[in-house]
Amino acid sequence: MRVLFGCGHFRLLWAALGISMTLGFTIQLLGVSFQKRVFSSRLLPGPWGPPAKAAAAGEGVQPSPAPPCQPRKHLVFLKTHKTGSSTIVNILHRFGDSQGLQFALPARYQFSYPNPFQARRVKGWHPKGRLFDILCHHMRFSLLEVQRVMHSDSFYFSIVRDPVSLAESAFSYYRGVVPAFRRAGTLLEFLASPHHFYRPGERGNHYARNLLWFDFGLDPLASQSPALIRAALAELEHVFHLVLVTEHMDESLVLLRHALCWTLDDVVAFRHNLRSPESVCTLEPSHAARLRAWNNLDWHLYTHFNRTFWARVERFGYARMAREMTMLQKRRAELMQHCLQGGGPLGPGDIADEHVRPFQFGQAPILGYAVQPSLAPEEQKVCQRMAMPELQYKDFLDAKQFPAPPLQVNVSKSQGAR
Ligand SMILES: *[C@@H]1O[C@H](CO)[C@@H](O)[C@H](O)[C@H]1NC(C)=O
Ligand SMILES: *[C@@H]1O[C@H](CO)[C@@H](O)[C@H](O)[C@H]1NC(C)=O
Repeated sequence: MRVLFGCGHFRLLWAALGISMTLGFTIQLLGVSFQKRVFSSRLLPGPWGPPAKAAAAGEGVQPSPAPPCQPRKHLVFLKTHKTGSSTIVNILHRFGDSQGLQFALPARYQFSYPNPFQARRVKGWHPKGRLFDILCHHMRFSLLEVQRVMHSDSFYFSIVRDPVSLAESAFSYYRGVVPAFRRAGTLLEFLASPHHFYRPGERGNHYARNLLWFDFGLDPLASQSPALIRAALAELEHVFHLVLVTEHMDESLVLLRHALCWTLDDVVAFRHNLRSPESVCTLEPSHAARLRAWNNLDWHLYTHFNRTFWARVERFGYARMAREMTMLQKRRAELMQHCLQGGGPLGPGDIADEHVRPFQFGQAPILGYAVQPSLAPEEQKVCQRMAMPELQYKDFLDAKQFPAPPLQVNVSKSQGAR
């Protein structure tokens, strides 16, 4: 494997990951007979609906109890870049798909990004037409335009990540298309003198600095005072009901589940658009500090929403959070073991079926999943949807929502319906 940024931590990281994965697999192996029992007694008859009587599950995963509230079905997810947002999109795709909800879809895969979102870019939208249930593909946020497409009672949420790891990921992914990154060649070169490589406003350079700030629809090039930054963040806090934190994905999913009044299985997901671990680079503290300073607006945004996030966890209750996270992790481990070949992510070369091979872009292989071949049809369906990469899932939903017009061919009755 080529060392990409010369940061030289790969072996260490890989070893650490290896250990944690081995531990995970060991736990999985120990749990095999238990899982067999769970899947055969409780899950197989109606595996994905509300689980049957808890007694059958024994000490197993708690069934998701029917919540005493109405599940929310009008959702705006601002999908930010390089924040683990593809995993959330899988959750939204599956929920909307299973509930027959209408997605506000882009013509291709993004809403004319990096231009601000425009209602007229939504497929099938008319100024006087119907509104949509879920909006969740890449955009640069623009509230007024989003409101023209979505119900007024929509739940707005998004996800933020530490700008240091976000910038490292963005460099790996966009090095080839961002002039500032391309000129620098390596992340460390870039960090040594970012101003030397970066020209504000140059096409593609929004990926190189304060990308979160940009995706939230704020202007990273305008002059910023502490008061203006505070005002911008207060405004975002007013618009977004919940802002998740990538570093705390499981806490995020628990909060999301409760905010939306969804079941446990609704928010269980495999990680999507994941880089192969040996290509993830850990930065020295001095380099991290430089990245933080370079992305100072994102740093403000991140620390702000980190605060609101943990205040929310506190209100939720730490003990309750710990319990819910255990349930979530257990369920995910069960499903990974049950659904996936190899029980986890695979490199693109190991995924034979192009329908489930994730889109490859950037410097590092993007991992995906292959579904076990011998599942019962209903399980197969659920596992496939959990494993389906976001672009393929978007195409699938698009085809479902906009069926191709019937062929202009008259087939006689005797030739029948295929
Ligand atoms: C995020 O919030 C937690 C809890 O208050 C705190 O311990 C942590 O230092 C914060 N992280 C950042 C980057 O602000
Ligand atoms: C198909 O057949 C029906 C009835 O035979 C006829 O009315 C209709 O015009 C035909 N459509 C086309 C596209 O040929």
